[in-house]
Parts: sequence; C-alpha cells; structure tokens
Amino acid sequence: MEFSQLLESRRSIRKFKPGMKISEDQIRVMIDAAIQAPTWKNSQTGRYYVAMSEDKMNFIRNQSLPSFNAANCENAVAIIITTYETKRSGFERDGNPTNELGDKWGVYDLGLQNENLVLKARETGYDTLIMGIRDVDVLKAEFGIPDSQEIVSIISVGVREDDPEKPKRKAVDDITKFF
Ligand SMILES: Cc1cc2nc3c(=O)[nH]c(=O)nc-3n(C[C@H](O)[C@H](O)[C@H](O)COP(=O)(O)O)c2cc1C
Repeated sequence: MEFSQLLESRRSIRKFKPGMKISEDQIRVMIDAAIQAPTWKNSQTGRYYVAMSEDKMNFIRNQSLPSFNAANCENAVAIIITTYETKRSGFERDGNPTNELGDKWGVYDLGLQNENLVLKARETGYDTLIMGIRDVDVLKAEFGIPDSQEIVSIISVGVREDDPEKPKRKAVDDITKFF
C-alpha cells in the first residue's frame, strides 16, 4: 500500500469483524516494524505483551478496561500491552536524566514504535485501537511484567467491520510557525 494511502486509511477501529484469526508470525511482523523506529541512543526500550488466547484477552477486557473500551475490542484477534523499560531512554549511564524530560523520552520512543506497529497492522490487513484509558495495576502480575517497566497503552488488533469517517484534523497552519 502506498504510504499516503496507508496514513489516510488507518483509523481507530472500535468494531471488529467476528470470526477472524491472526498468527503469532503476523503479530511478529508488526512488532518488527515497531523495532525499526528511531529511539533515544538506539535504546529500544519498548516491550510488548501479546494476549492471543480468549482467556488472556478476556482478562484484559474484564480486569483492565472500562466497559466502553472492553466493548470496543470485542472480536479482537489479539490485544497488546505496550510498556517501556524506565530510566534508560533519556538517561545517562550514571542513571541521571540527560535533560528535564527524563522518562518522558521512554514514552516518546514507545509512541514512535507503536505508530510503526499500527501502520504495519493496517498494511497487512488488520486494524487497531490504541487505548490509554485502562487500569494497569492488575496486568503486571498476570503477564509477568517487571517493575522496571511502565505500562503505557493497550492496543487491540482486529479486522474492521465498519469504515469510520476520519475525525477532523487541524490544518498545518494551525499547528506550525515558520521562521
Ligand atoms: C494515546 C492514545 C490513547 C487513546 N485512548 C483511547 C481510548 O482509551 N479509547 C478509545 O476509544 N480511543 C482511544 N484513542 C483513539 C483516539 O481517540 C483516536 O486516535 C483519535 O480520535 C483520532 O482518530 P483516528 O485514530 O481514527 O485517526 C487513543 C489514541 C491515542 C493515540
């Protein structure tokens, strides 16, 4: 798919088709795209926990997501917890932050990685919903996520059942100043 078309056709999908499937290899392709993103000193601190069984997906839906987000990812073929290793991206070897943003650079890097992931999903025939409204406390024990990592977003993966309109975007001149 041509890049502009890929950008235009990616949407947050809240209604997935029932009965669809995905393989671990197809998920690996998406995560490999994430790995290609630039990161602070190539620190690559993003981590992925992929729920593919109904059991694990139901755990995330029922224990971690508010009901509207749980409903949004009904019929998902996978649900991915995205985390990053804290205190590495944006930090010096001695453990001090390089500048005022500190661990926000880890979140920045993960965002770059996740954008690659969702675009690759789209390119390979899948759709996604990034969810920031979630409760992460219950997830660490269930998925063996160490305390050195911070959970950021949960991304559902599925096949779109509807084709939602693009939410209105700002114009370039609304967000840019040229000098
Ligand atoms: C960091 C982040 C958190 C989000 N959290 C949620 C969420 O919890 N629930 C939801 O339905 N959509 C969520 N979204 C999706 C946004 O609402 C959506 O990206 C935005 O409205 C633009 O629509 P589009 O993705 O179709 O272009 C989130 C998106 C991002 C990037």
